[in-house]
Amino acid sequence: VRAGRCVVAVDGPSGSGKSTVSRRLAVDVGALYLDTGAMYRAITWAVLRSGVDLTDAASVAKVAGEVDLRIGTDPQGYGVTADGVSVDAEIRGAEVTGAVSAVAAVPAVRELLVARQREMITNAGRIVVEGRDIGSVVAPDADLKVFLTASEAARAARRSAEDATDVTATAAALARRDRLDSTRKINPLAQAPDAVVLDTTELGIDQVVARLRDLLNERGVA
Ligand code: DC
Repeated sequence: VRAGRCVVAVDGPSGSGKSTVSRRLAVDVGALYLDTGAMYRAITWAVLRSGVDLTDAASVAKVAGEVDLRIGTDPQGYGVTADGVSVDAEIRGAEVTGAVSAVAAVPAVRELLVARQREMITNAGRIVVEGRDIGSVVAPDADLKVFLTASEAARAARRSAEDATDVTATAAALARRDRLDSTRKINPLAQAPDAVVLDTTELGIDQVVARLRDLLNERGVA
């Protein structure tokens, strides 16, 4: 562990509590925060705007390579822009959510974003990074790797409460996205062998964050 350095990798499926827990932990330990899902979503927004066919990997990769993507790392509020356009609201919409798994499965898109993420992690030093492949691919040398899980019912209930959508439809969309994200050939959602697995079905945010702080203290990095 280099002086002052603290990299926490938080992976898990949608609705497992990753975002809330990661932001809270970052604030508590005075670290930056990187939402890698927002990066895949912003690229997806640019791909949709360009009108290229989502199944045409070469064209998707070309758009991804050309878009000027910027994302903040303040856990209390970070903006995402694509070619200078603020896309914070758009990247949470149904259109982007429905297309993001296809875009995130394109190898060239992942290569590009993984490289950007590694650079941001190195520059930050102290950072909580959330995604699907952080502990397994992006930051295999993270000080702490966490894999959050929760029952399908709990995840669907959280997402539908967040998005004010019907829970049955949300459950179906979530199951579809998890299946695509877990079975894609390159960097699928994966639990690193040395990750701490936390089932958040019955746990509140405070309890999960407290557990992670304990783990960091035990490792002497926070
Ligand atoms: O966490 P999220 O729902 O905002 O992520 C959006 C999508 O991006 C998700 O369906 C899978 C993909 N993703 C990924 O493939 N790798 C990451 N590190 C983060 C997200």
